[in-house]
Amino acid sequence: MKLFLPLLFCFFTLFNSCSAANVTYDRRSLIIDGQRKLLISAAIHYPRSVPGMWPGLVQTAKEGGVDVIESYVFWNGHELSPGKYNFEGRYDLVKFVKIVQQAGMYMILRIGPFVAAEWNFGGVPVWLHYVPGSVFRSDNEPFKYYMQKFMTFIVNLMKQEKLFASQGGPIIIAQVENEYGFYEQYYGEGAKRYVTWAAKMAVSQNIGVPWIMCQQDDAPDPVINTCNSFYCDQFKPNSPNKPKIWTENWPGWFKTFGARDPHRPPEDIAFSVARFFQKGGSVQNYYMYHGGTNFGRTSGGPFITTSYDYEAPIDEYGLPRLPKWGHLKELHRAIKLSEHALLKSEPTNLSLGPSLEADVYDDGSGACAAFLANMDDKTDKNAVFRNVSYHLPAWSVSILPDCKNVVFNTAKISSQASVVEMVPEELQPSVALPSKDLKALKWDIFVENAGIWGAADFTKNGFLDHINTTKDTTDYLWYTTSIIVGENEEFLKKGSHPVLLIESKGHALHAFVNQELQGSASGNGSHSPFKFENPISLKAGKNEIALLSMTVGLQNAGGLYEWVGAGLTSVKIEGLNNGTIDLSMSSWTYKIGLQGEHLGLYKPEILASVNWVSTSEPPKNQPLTWYKVVVDPPSGDEPVGLDMIHMGKGLAWLNGEEIGRYWPIKSSKHLECVQECDYRGKFFPDKCLTGCGEPTQRWYHVPRSWFKPSGNILVIFEEKGGDPTTIRFSKRKTSGLCSHIAEDYPMVDQESISKDGNGNDKTRPTVHLKCPKNTWISNVKFASYGNPTGRCGLYSMGDCHDPNSTFVVEKVCLGKNECAIELTEKNFDKSLCPGTTKKLAIEAVCS
Ligand SMILES: *[C@@H]1O[C@H](CO)[C@@H](O)[C@H](O)[C@H]1NC(C)=O
Ligand SMILES: *[C@@H]1O[C@H](CO)[C@@H](O)[C@H](O)[C@H]1NC(C)=O
Ligand SMILES: *[C@@H]1O[C@H](CO)[C@@H](O)[C@H](O)[C@H]1NC(C)=O
Ligand SMILES: *[C@@H]1O[C@H](CO)[C@@H](O)[C@H](O)[C@H]1NC(C)=O
Ligand SMILES: *[C@@H]1O[C@H](CO)[C@@H](O)[C@H](O)[C@H]1NC(C)=O
Ligand SMILES: *[C@@H]1O[C@H](CO)[C@@H](O)[C@H](O)[C@H]1NC(C)=O
Ligand SMILES: *[C@@H]1O[C@H](CO)[C@@H](O)[C@H](O)[C@H]1NC(C)=O
Repeated sequence: MKLFLPLLFCFFTLFNSCSAANVTYDRRSLIIDGQRKLLISAAIHYPRSVPGMWPGLVQTAKEGGVDVIESYVFWNGHELSPGKYNFEGRYDLVKFVKIVQQAGMYMILRIGPFVAAEWNFGGVPVWLHYVPGSVFRSDNEPFKYYMQKFMTFIVNLMKQEKLFASQGGPIIIAQVENEYGFYEQYYGEGAKRYVTWAAKMAVSQNIGVPWIMCQQDDAPDPVINTCNSFYCDQFKPNSPNKPKIWTENWPGWFKTFGARDPHRPPEDIAFSVARFFQKGGSVQNYYMYHGGTNFGRTSGGPFITTSYDYEAPIDEYGLPRLPKWGHLKELHRAIKLSEHALLKSEPTNLSLGPSLEADVYDDGSGACAAFLANMDDKTDKNAVFRNVSYHLPAWSVSILPDCKNVVFNTAKISSQASVVEMVPEELQPSVALPSKDLKALKWDIFVENAGIWGAADFTKNGFLDHINTTKDTTDYLWYTTSIIVGENEEFLKKGSHPVLLIESKGHALHAFVNQELQGSASGNGSHSPFKFENPISLKAGKNEIALLSMTVGLQNAGGLYEWVGAGLTSVKIEGLNNGTIDLSMSSWTYKIGLQGEHLGLYKPEILASVNWVSTSEPPKNQPLTWYKVVVDPPSGDEPVGLDMIHMGKGLAWLNGEEIGRYWPIKSSKHLECVQECDYRGKFFPDKCLTGCGEPTQRWYHVPRSWFKPSGNILVIFEEKGGDPTTIRFSKRKTSGLCSHIAEDYPMVDQESISKDGNGNDKTRPTVHLKCPKNTWISNVKFASYGNPTGRCGLYSMGDCHDPNSTFVVEKVCLGKNECAIELTEKNFDKSLCPGTTKKLAIEAVCS
């Protein structure tokens, strides 16, 4: 049966005469205009990419078998000061929702307005912390006042644009609050009152679609409580009338500066999703499906990296991540093939042996779908179901949309994989510049004073909290003082060095004495306070001590998180005649921010009026230096990352657009990293880490749409010293594609199943390769039919190999954008090494 959704139809008429949709729910699912739905949803946060990328991201999600786009609403990006709203550029929420609508997809809008999201201050404006008496996320009048005001503003904006499904728009669900359940205990008696108030306030907005609260077991009716976790198959909503919704399935994880790279294997993600639908789930959302970038100072943490790639199915740069994206696409297809049966009947669950669980949705009149799960995390098993034996790899689910034929097993990846490279290109001087030597870059330099510039902000005995002082208008705060060193100090005679001891609540620090950098220290993603201990150079007489304290993204979650401070708590000098002197209660002079920030050195329109110093040889390893260079865009149209591997720490801009914080700090090489990730068994963020001893983030995304044809102004502020001549634009290129498939891979003619529920027509296992748009297979680097081993980029031949493999693959694939090779007798010598299940593995180059 082919269903034509009225909603879809109205998308084609371009939303003038859209008919309203009636979105309700019961215990099984959402019901949209009387139709039950199983929905696959994908989180794409609009400010974490740029408007130029939105249509492509949404389209790639749709091609991946996604029905719904989900996003938070980012309060602190929208309400810059009380009542002053911003919906420009990356914050054009209406435009984003309309792009989703035009793609014929639904939208889940998680308004919050607290969002966590590894986003600065969890999305709540910093100004609200300084409204007298305010306490976030509690039964607190100032907080509730501003929360309701913002919530109402967003709801009215959506209503005005007719974006709720009840008005013919794409929004089928809205969220109030976010993961409050984790932290309710910190808010005492008032917590429950706050939850009840938030739910009531939301429901009273009358949006005509259901409200959800994620990770909130006590969400009051009719608000649906939903699950956020790596697995939600065992989740039960708090009322028998509510459907089972999974708002956050984490297909990867975020990174913090100085930490290793986490990876979640596609087999385990698919396993968790299949288990969820096996156990009656109805809406599943990947958090994130495209993670994107924390541009500027939007990242939270502290210490969340500028990249929010999240190892999501679409990578930071907008390319499908293979095989993850492809494997999930196959999974979504298998779930959709089963949707009709899943929604028509109650499941029967049965055990097929130890750790073998089947759930069967059989309506007794033809519609039947089954999920067979092997929950064992080590051993592959065979299970007999309805008199047929099925091979189930450890920790996997097979999906049988007709209760007979396996169309998908979560542990068997048939989707192609890719080799992605960052190809460096030297910065090219802009041809628009009147320059004698076009080949040489011309740099402009501006050096900050190491300490107070201009007039001091104030002087005070002891330390004020960093965040209370800057109110997050900048990352930077100078704390300066001076000490007098007597001529008779022993260390002067011995030529030794006293030691500077500093304690800070966070997040990072550079210590200068008499304008010279003495050392740096910082906390990390698991521990933000830190200590600094470094020998310093002091001279007889007066010494200036200037400490540059820095935040690296404000706290974004936790109980009473807005009260977590930063900045210095203790400063001492050890090794003087008097022993140790404590400067903590001395007179400290404060300066908020940098002179360059104050001058707006990153703004193209202001650059001219600043006294930059020009040079063709920019200084290296020089702290507190601003660099400006005018460049052409990198060639081609691939996505671009700024390679900062030989820089220290700082901020970068292109044409005034904020690329963000860069900091190629390395993780410890003494920690543990994995070579191969075993997908089997419960996943946790530290399970599969790589990148020991490497920078957590080397490349920084610069969206193509920020480039002009020429005359692009790249501005870098370097805090501690680096080599700007090594900065490169690197282009993200898919250089190779791989695919492998085994002879026993379940392949079924899926059309025949959907037609008569009786898909007997098995097709042969087939390897598919598809190059990116406008590229062609130019080389077959590896092809082996037999028992090859390894993975994409690292395949090697086994002792069983058909020598004709490369010839066959080249004949079919060379010069094609896409090709398919069946594992047939015609193509390969099937008599080879009898008794072995053979497979075909291919690596090809697209160009
Ligand atoms: C919406 O659908 C529900 C059941 O799905 C039904 O009870 C209700 O009457 C419908 N409302 C409208 C306005 O059609
Ligand atoms: C079927 O599901 C119920 C409820 O989750 C569970 O208690 C029972 O053990 C399951 N039975 C089998 C055979 O797996
Ligand atoms: C399985 O086989 C048995 C014995 O041959 C038969 O009685 C039964 O009907 C079969 N069940 C199904 C579901 O085909
Ligand atoms: C983070 O800092 C704490 C305290 O200095 C330290 O114990 C811990 O090992 C650090 N963690 C990492 C991952 O570097
Ligand atoms: C910031 O200032 C407020 C108001 O003076 C104070 O209550 C709070 O404790 C300060 N925060 C920190 C972390 O010192
Ligand atoms: C060292 O101690 C002497 C005597 O207590 C005091 O006068 C002097 O100021 C101290 N010097 C410093 C640098 O604190
Ligand atoms: C290799 O494959 C090609 C194309 O299928 C075929 O024409 C040729 O006979 C094969 N050669 C051998 C030695 O099997």
